[in-house]
Amino acid sequence: MNPRLAKLQPYPFEKLRALIAGNAPPAGLRAINLQIGEPKHPTPALVKDALAGALDGLASYPLTAGTPELRRAIAAWLARRYGIPPLDPETQLLPVNGTREALFAFAQTVIEPKPDARVVCPNPFYQIYEGAALLAGATPIYGEPESWAGVQLLYACSPANPSGHVMDLAEWRRLFELAERHGFVIASDECYSEIYFERPPLGALEAAQRLGRGYERLVAFSSLSKRSNAPGLRSGFVAGDAALIKQFLRYRTYHGSAMSLAVQAASIAAWQDERHVEENRRLYAQKFDRVLPMMRPPLAAERPDGGFYIWLRTPNDDTEFARRLHAQYNVLVLPGSFLARTVRGVNPGANHVRIALVPPLDECVEAMERIARFAAGL
Ligand SMILES: Cc1ncc(COP(=O)(O)O)c(C=O)c1O
Repeated sequence: MNPRLAKLQPYPFEKLRALIAGNAPPAGLRAINLQIGEPKHPTPALVKDALAGALDGLASYPLTAGTPELRRAIAAWLARRYGIPPLDPETQLLPVNGTREALFAFAQTVIEPKPDARVVCPNPFYQIYEGAALLAGATPIYGEPESWAGVQLLYACSPANPSGHVMDLAEWRRLFELAERHGFVIASDECYSEIYFERPPLGALEAAQRLGRGYERLVAFSSLSKRSNAPGLRSGFVAGDAALIKQFLRYRTYHGSAMSLAVQAASIAAWQDERHVEENRRLYAQKFDRVLPMMRPPLAAERPDGGFYIWLRTPNDDTEFARRLHAQYNVLVLPGSFLARTVRGVNPGANHVRIALVPPLDECVEAMERIARFAAGL
């Protein structure tokens, strides 16, 4: 067996299952699940129709690089969305089967196996970054390292899961300076970029353009899962540094991660339409508008810059909060400490729970009523 597999942590949802294993929630209250960030708004008909209309594509092996039509649709979307000059669809981007596999595979492509190889992740963070680093033979570093020696890759996540924080231009400038000084690659995970309430979040490629920098050592990952309510389509892309994209294509050819032609057709339809994305944002904004004012001390949360999570501060231990909320009120939320690692004695996810506002509005409202009642009794 690959000994690195033993280093992988249980996934946060496995930890949650173990945490609530002994619970017997009241049968009279319907279960409300807010622990997983799985979009629940309907997948747009234009995406389903394009998929159904392209089923003949199942008869062919697709190319790993994707069709020119898909690559052009992605380049055009990036130019429209971020106001950047169109990327070269031939060399600067690739389709991926959702960002999860791509974020993982990217580390396998860029990490040079050296004893001091290190990968920097945010903290709290999306656990795939950690697993990608470990299986590439690198040591994950959580949050800003004390020294940048040995750092080969850094994952950024903006809007962040779970906090919803969007990185501004000053943060990007600092990160680009660090990457230049220490020679590491930046993988910018932007899968929540289209779920926002005021300003469209700044993207990594956009920040690079605004700062007059090229895309050297920089790639951005984007996805249709949240933007277009199509997590089952498994469709996204990676874009940026042509030298990195070239090697990533090489890796992916061997890994065997080409996108089905039917999925490519559906993806083209999705990237070319913004109306369904606007409607999606409206539905999330409506939920935040209704639910946030229901929060009373000792609970506190702000509207995130982007994404669909409430990152709720809890008055007590977050695992105890989540366990008892489920036991007493049949509402599932994710303890923040499961999404972070303890560094120098501090787990930055502790005393927070992540609440995914993915169910329909009435369920989100009912869940928040129960959470408020539960918290009042703490
Ligand atoms: C931060 C982050 N990145 C990436 C993903 C993966 O999304 P997908 O593989 O569906 O594109 C998720 C999914 O929840 C996520 O939260």
